[in-house]
Amino acid sequence: MSNKSYAFRDSQKFNQYLIRNRTFDKCCGFIKELVKQSTSILDIGCWPGSVTVGFADANPSATVIGVDFNESQLEVARSYTQHPNRENLSFEQGSIHELPFEDNSFDLIFCQTVFVHISDHEKALSEIMRVLKPNGIFASREVMNSYIVMTPVSDILEKARRAIHIGVTVSGGAPDVGLFMGEKLHTAGFDHLNQSLFWERSPVGEESREHFINMCSALLYGELGKQSIKNGWITANEINELEKLCFKLPDIPYAMWGMPFVETIARKH
Ligand SMILES: C[S@@+](CC[C@H](N)C(=O)[O-])C[C@H]1O[C@@H](n2cnc3c(N)ncnc32)[C@H](O)[C@@H]1O
Repeated sequence: MSNKSYAFRDSQKFNQYLIRNRTFDKCCGFIKELVKQSTSILDIGCWPGSVTVGFADANPSATVIGVDFNESQLEVARSYTQHPNRENLSFEQGSIHELPFEDNSFDLIFCQTVFVHISDHEKALSEIMRVLKPNGIFASREVMNSYIVMTPVSDILEKARRAIHIGVTVSGGAPDVGLFMGEKLHTAGFDHLNQSLFWERSPVGEESREHFINMCSALLYGELGKQSIKNGWITANEINELEKLCFKLPDIPYAMWGMPFVETIARKH
């Protein structure tokens, strides 16, 4: 299990960045109508709560629950979303491998960039299947680290991408899981499968500086950096170069970073 890998991402700044960028409007275009039609919605791996609160606001008559493995991540979600109080929204601690809910509880389950960090996908999907109501929908957004595009093309950025890929893999995750979600859902017995591809690109202007730093923060300032140097995935000098480049990129008018997300919708029959 890879929850230890979240230590590097608990800074206030990173939370604020995610809250601004991981929103219902930015991430959930593919399920907007489904959210409006649902009476019970679960967001798994919900930190920082910015998507979960979007569900509660988009459909005030639905019961919306955010669940996350990590209690400290839930504190971020609670403190950010409970002002003003929303009666239809709550957060609970729990694992995707053992969801703390009765069978047949939800019309819609959403899960974004969680399968990338876990290894037992089969168990997770059987839990999701169990707590979905018959005909309920599972919607996921997962990344494909191997297909990130970065311009200007740079050896340092490519090395950083590869070090992150290896780091996620050795900590038990699946950095390209977006590519396999459809197959996994089909194998788990879901039907009415629909997949689409969404490119999340770096913002423009001053926000992009924070973006580039945040995308590399695990390497620049976290345990992953130390682990990568120790294992020879990247050198300390290259990490210094990477930091300089991240600060410089926003001044390059054509700099761009694009992350492909696979958006999958599937039904429990
Ligand atoms: C990369 S973050 C994604 C957060 C949010 N869904 C988003 O897209 O912005 C992954 C989240 O999954 C949570 N997580 C990791 N393993 C989990 C597990 N086994 N069960 C539930 N949540 C888990 C982490 O605590 C973290 O909050």
